[in-house]
Amino acid sequence: MSIDPKAYWQEEHLEKEYERIFSRSLYVGTAASLRAEGDYVSYRVCGRPFVTRNLAGTVGTFDNICLHRANLIDPIGQGNRPFRCGYHGWQYGAGGTLMRSPLANDKCISRKQLQSYATVENRGLVFASIDNDFAGVVPGEAALGAIGFEMGEAFHSETLEHEANWKLLVENVLESYHLSFVHGDSFVPTGITSTSQFANQYHGNDSCFTITNKAGSSGKDKVIPGASSDYVHAFVFPNLFISITGGLVGFVSHFKPEAPGRTLLEWQLFETPLLQSQKAVVRSYIKKNAIEFTRKVLGEDLVVLNNSQIGTRYARGAHQIQEIEGRIAQFHHIYSKMMS
Ligand code: FES
Ligand SMILES: [Fe+2]
Repeated sequence: MSIDPKAYWQEEHLEKEYERIFSRSLYVGTAASLRAEGDYVSYRVCGRPFVTRNLAGTVGTFDNICLHRANLIDPIGQGNRPFRCGYHGWQYGAGGTLMRSPLANDKCISRKQLQSYATVENRGLVFASIDNDFAGVVPGEAALGAIGFEMGEAFHSETLEHEANWKLLVENVLESYHLSFVHGDSFVPTGITSTSQFANQYHGNDSCFTITNKAGSSGKDKVIPGASSDYVHAFVFPNLFISITGGLVGFVSHFKPEAPGRTLLEWQLFETPLLQSQKAVVRSYIKKNAIEFTRKVLGEDLVVLNNSQIGTRYARGAHQIQEIEGRIAQFHHIYSKMMS
């Protein structure tokens, strides 16, 4: 049973998705971007402003709403700064406690504590939960373990705004069916196509697959011992996508839903430990190619996703998911269960 098409464009569905899905567990950003005191990632989830930041050496997630007159304390985006509101200078310290309120009278301040939320790190990735404490669950662990994910050194990041519902982005990365049709100038010449052999694996709400590159046309495996030509991909529900190409280049991307028809994808490329161990000239050649390749692939996907959003809005029935799209079927099953 496929998702109701209305869920791709109606505002009320996004509100319910916040309550049932995104408030439970959410990928926030890399641990490397939150390593130093004052590092922050500030974002909105279905409209609501949150910030995950390093305060006195501890990474935590807070309402990003000043206790004075509700200005956003950190600007949306990421960087390093004191946790201080730019409007009248109220400053927050460890645990989100109000530390300074210049020119203010303490008698007029009854609330001094920002709401904080559970925040955990796994394999160099940081996750937050607005309405639970993870209760010993390590987000994404089974799927990340299955693809042998190890965070390496990031070398490039970009963002890409989609005029499409977040579920269309998810569905697009869960199948290899579209590769020959959408990526004729990118994936296909590398030997990865719609008919490449693939193996799906399911881990709770998460899933992954390996696509075997039978052509092995990149020849990376011959140049770099230990490298392969295969492509592995993991989806950590609800908003994190990870892939590793040839055992050399990793791709971490995620989104935070903004509106029913608008989703900002942020992506980052990193070197796997295997690539990091290679000669500088090899590393820089592979990294340069990876940036160009990824930009091209995401641009190709963007066109069909934006067009599918238009079509879905006026479709006369639900999507007709095929057997080859098994990971989408699982996603729809989990989504429907959480939303019902
Ligand atoms: S609104 Fe933040 S200090 Fe006034
Ligand atoms: Fe694609």
